[in-house]
Order: sequence, then C-alpha cells, then structure tokens
Amino acid sequence: MRKVTLVSIASDNIKHIAMPMTDDGLVAASTFAGQSELLQNYGASSKPDTAVQVPLLEKVLLAIGAGKHIDYREFAASATRFGKKKPALSIDITSATELEVQQAAEGCLLGLDTPSSYKTSEVSLQEIELVVDASLTGLDITAALNLASRICAAREIINTPANDLWPAKLAELVTAQSAGLPVTVEIWDEAKLEQEGCGGILGVGLGSDRGPRLIKISYNGGGQHLGLVGKGITFDTGGLSLKPAESMVGMKYDMAGAATVMAAVLAIAERNLAVTVTALLCVAENMPSGRAMRPGDVLKMRNGKTVEVLNTDAEGRLVMADGLSILTEMKVDHIVDVATLTGAATIALGTRYAGIMGHGAAPDLVSSAAATSSEAMWQMPLPAELRPLLDSDIADLTNVKIGNRAGGMLIAGWFLSEFVEKDSSWAHIDIAGPANNDGAPYGSTSKGASGVAIRTLVQLAENLAKN
Ligand code: BES
Ligand code: MN
Ligand code: ZN
Repeated sequence: MRKVTLVSIASDNIKHIAMPMTDDGLVAASTFAGQSELLQNYGASSKPDTAVQVPLLEKVLLAIGAGKHIDYREFAASATRFGKKKPALSIDITSATELEVQQAAEGCLLGLDTPSSYKTSEVSLQEIELVVDASLTGLDITAALNLASRICAAREIINTPANDLWPAKLAELVTAQSAGLPVTVEIWDEAKLEQEGCGGILGVGLGSDRGPRLIKISYNGGGQHLGLVGKGITFDTGGLSLKPAESMVGMKYDMAGAATVMAAVLAIAERNLAVTVTALLCVAENMPSGRAMRPGDVLKMRNGKTVEVLNTDAEGRLVMADGLSILTEMKVDHIVDVATLTGAATIALGTRYAGIMGHGAAPDLVSSAAATSSEAMWQMPLPAELRPLLDSDIADLTNVKIGNRAGGMLIAGWFLSEFVEKDSSWAHIDIAGPANNDGAPYGSTSKGASGVAIRTLVQLAENLAKN
C-alpha cells in the first residue's frame, strides 16, 4: 500500500501541493488562498478532472478542478492521478470534515490505480500527505485505506484476462485474499455442485474444460444476516448461442459481480462490523463445445424449478438462480445480488448507472447506501406484464423470450425473482453498464474494471449493523 499520512502543515520537503478549485475559486485555508485570480490567469478552472500547474514561491501548486461543491473522494483521486509522476504530493484538504478526510483517503488510492499489472508501472508517486484542519484530532483513515485497497484488488482480478482466470483459479484467489480475516471459505467443485443440485451453475459450466465452482465466504459478526450473490462468469462467449465477435470483447469482465461481493464481505470482516454475511460467488466459464448445453435443454435448478434454456447467452441468470435459492433456504434477512447481467441495462441507463430491482426493504436500503457512498444507481420497476414472457411450454419457465427486445434488464430481474421468496427483502443490482470503463479515467473511476458497488455493499452492512 502506498503511504498516505495526515498532517496539518504541508511538509517542507514536498514540492507539489494539490488544491481544489471550485466555482468560487481556490479552496484552501493556507497562504495560497488569496491566489485564485493568479491561478485563473494561468487557466485553472473548476471543471472536474482538469489540473493546472503554477510555480509559486518554492512550491508548485496544482489547482484541481472540483466543480461547484467538492466531492473529496473524486477530488483526491484526480489530484493523485495528475500527480502520479511526482515523487511526493501534498493534498490540501484543510476545508474537509472528518468524513470527507476519510473519503479523500479512499480517493488517493483509487485515483492512482490503473489496470497496469500487464504493463510496466507509470506511477512514481509513493508519498502522499493529506493536509487537514488542525482541529481534526484523532482521525483514523485505516478503514478507508483498507476499503480502497480491497477495491483495487477486486479491480485487478476483474481486469485479468480469461486465459489467466478460470473458475478454480478465482477460488484460489478468494482463499488467498481471505487469509488472516475472520471469514471461512468453502469451495464447491463439480461433484459437490451435483450433490447439492446446483443445475444452473453446472449447466452453464458444461461447455468449458475448466469446470464451474460455487465459492461461499462467511463472516459472522452477529446482528442481521445479509446474503450476497455475485455473477462470476470468467468468460462469456455466449455458449452455443455464440456472441458476435465485437460483443464478445470485454466479456472477461463478466465476473465483476463475484469479485464485488468478495471484496465487500472481506472489507466488512476487516472492519468487524456487527452483521453476519454469507457471500456466494457463482462461477463458471460459458463456452461452446461438444458438451455444452443446447438451446432447448431443460435444467433443474437448486430450488427444484425447471428452466428451458432458449438462449445459452442468458447464462448469468442461470448461475445466479442457484445462489439465490441457497440464500433463500438459509432464511437470511436481506439478499442483494450483483451481476453484469444484461446488455439491456446499458441501453436503459447508459454506462455510469447501475440498475436496482427487487422487492421488500432491500431496494431502498441499497439506494440509500449507494447515495451515501456516491455510487450512481437507479431503481427500476418489475412490471407485471413482462413476467408471462418467461412462460414455457414444457418447463416452469424459460430463460429468455425469443425475439423480444423490450425491457431486457427487467425481464432478467423477473427471472431472478423466481428464486427468492415473494415479498422478501431482495435487491438485484445490474452493473453491466458501470462495471468497466472503456473510456479515460475520471475522478475515482479507473480505466477498465471500476469496482462499482463494493462501497455501496459495505455501507449497506454498516447501516444494518447500526439497526
Ligand atoms: N454478460 C452479458 C451481459 C453484458 C452485455 C454485460 C454487455 C456487459 C456488457 C449477459 O450474459 C448476456 O449475454 N446477456 C444477453 C441476454 C439476452 C440473451 C437475453 C444480452 O444482454 O444480450
Ligand atoms: Mn451472456
Ligand atoms: Zn454474461
């Protein structure tokens, strides 16, 4: 982990000082506060993700665009990104409250993170200090830095190409990352999945030489029981309903939901929160082959329901179904599932918003946790008229309506609802849009895997622990 320290006066030996520039000018209770006009003459602006460097006295000021109101996480992330080639950076957040200092600490690590494990590093910044108001004593940024590190670790796993990441390998990584934490990890291989009746995960995994797994991570902190399910398709070719070449690019990210719930439960355990969490990662590689499931095949899922698979590319809902069924049997208090489930989510909400569906208390609980942690999520309906589209002639339901293009994200939501109890507290988060960022990095969002929804899940657990 990079060194991030809290100080109340910028160290003499650090030459570069980053400060937020808002619509009202430079925000810093330092000797530079009166320099807004000078900086504006140099072209400094409040536009987020812009930076202007101004040599001043013995220091170099970096005026970082921070919009109208400063979001300290995003500001600090921009600051470290613009300062990544410097040896050391002071970030002036003397206007920040205690909570905002913690957000800034998170932002420092998130902003420096690049999907770079297959490239030589372009980051030289090792020493970061956050210059905070002297009245803020007893501040602790350990939890913030730990969470940010978990997010970075999840991003790295999500970014890993599928030739280096398959179901059993993901299970090994989960075991390794759980070391030293108060959690237990249980891994179900194919034989065990068979014994346990997990027909969805097995069916999707059939086509691959690298068999499927269910990974269970349990943390017992007492209190309410939160169940998490993550979609872990290490690569989604579409199976026999093969994707066209261009749509297949990026399908290494199709295990983002699994990495997300892993990072969340580990961060929750690391904080010793007073909740109990069971996270189920439903992991398979969706490949076409002589053994692959065919369109028209019928699978028997963990909860006994039968599914006629009309499109093998709607595989996420099949693996998720088994995870949801297990948590339902366990009678957990709330279920939240996270999945890069549908391309339709991107059509509906673009690439920066996740869609929330479900019933009972969970959707509102997730929405409010997302708002607190500044993650963009939007509640979507499950319109009753869409449910009959999944009626099957020969099984309990189909996995898609062939030929239908309307409301794809919502139909997927309806499918999942068949594997939780009616009116129970359940939220489904479709992260197909924001799970990865194809464009340039911005604020705390890196290029590639974003790690979206981890902060929301940890915040949700924190809120549950208080009630
Ligand atoms: N993994 C995809 C969804 C996806 C698409 C995620 C694009 C990220 C970007 C999922 O398994 C899938 O293929 N869904 C199909 C469903 C369809 C067959 C009903 C889709 O969205 O086309
Ligand atoms: Mn698919
Ligand atoms: Zn998929």
